[in-house]
Amino acid sequence: MQFKLEATDAASRARAATITLDHGTIETPIFMPVGTVATVKGVHQKELSEEINPDIILGNTYHLYLRPQTPILEKAGGIHKFMNWDRNILTDSGGYQVYSLSANRKIKEEGVKFKSHIDGSYHFFTPENVMEIQRTIGADIIMAFDECTPYPCDYNYAKRSMHMTHRWLDRCINHLEKTPLKYDYNQTFFPIVQGSTYKDLRKQSAEYIASVGAEGNAIGGLSVGEPAEEMYEMTDVVTSILPKDKPRYLMGVGTPINILENIALGIDMFDCVMPTRNGRNGMLFTAHGSINIKNKKWEDDFSPIDEMGITWVDTAYSKAYVRHLFTVNEMLGRQIGTIHNLGFYLWLVREARKHILAGDFTTWKNKMVKQMDKRL
Ligand code: GUN
Repeated sequence: MQFKLEATDAASRARAATITLDHGTIETPIFMPVGTVATVKGVHQKELSEEINPDIILGNTYHLYLRPQTPILEKAGGIHKFMNWDRNILTDSGGYQVYSLSANRKIKEEGVKFKSHIDGSYHFFTPENVMEIQRTIGADIIMAFDECTPYPCDYNYAKRSMHMTHRWLDRCINHLEKTPLKYDYNQTFFPIVQGSTYKDLRKQSAEYIASVGAEGNAIGGLSVGEPAEEMYEMTDVVTSILPKDKPRYLMGVGTPINILENIALGIDMFDCVMPTRNGRNGMLFTAHGSINIKNKKWEDDFSPIDEMGITWVDTAYSKAYVRHLFTVNEMLGRQIGTIHNLGFYLWLVREARKHILAGDFTTWKNKMVKQMDKRL
């Protein structure tokens, strides 16, 4: 992996950079569309690459391990070939899904025993087998196995959990060194900072994560219900410690406003289900605020869903038509909502990049934050 810092904003910590991996170069800041089970729900690969055009998407170890299961991905020659996506992919480690989705999970030093949300079967994830599973899935960036603490979280629990995440990190690194690559391209490993909403723990965790010298670093355990201000405080502490010459990935964040505020704090990479999940539920993000397209007020509004026309669906369909599709529960409505929202998120991070390079990011960001903080 190669990381090239191109510009840093004078009035904030925002950066523009490029990350080069074996499946292409990523221009940052970047938003990675979530493709949990080897599909960005409802979006063809052609629409994804030509309309939305992200340099990288995200998959999930927990889901892919359960279905289609790793032997199938291995037979396919890895996830890129399986899903016909030849750009970069990052897989999350399951360190979040195991806690949020599976019932009856038991966390021990050795690993996590969990019950599948699909068929109730029992499985065991350890730092070691999660590294092997991610080798077989074959993403370009693979994540450490961690514990994502809930919010609120008792200080002593957060502290013990953070230390266990650090010990698990050592095990991930030791095991990866012994686990050869499965395919003819490289994989880059990112560790994850934890520490809940406690500044001293975040500082300690960021120092430990920085000390292992990985090629990139991630921040987890945020956007789990804490107020936005608390999230920004934690990002601020952590980005003041993580190395400047390596990419920083904030996991599971967030709203368009959260993304701009965290770019200002020095984050380069984001992922979140919000544009896809909300798009499927009729919530459309725009530069002037969010729209609930299911509202009766759009019933006879024949204006385009978004005059900016970032993706072709924005001007091809009217608000009244898309509202109708949601009212009659047609799948095309969900597809349009998803393409629109992803197009908007990718536009937002590309604009952020342009303004960082032009030197007026902070002024632009403050204007956009005000402008987007509305329900239309
Ligand atoms: N996605 C969102 N937050 C987290 C986290 O804390 N850990 C992992 N592995 N994935 C996440």
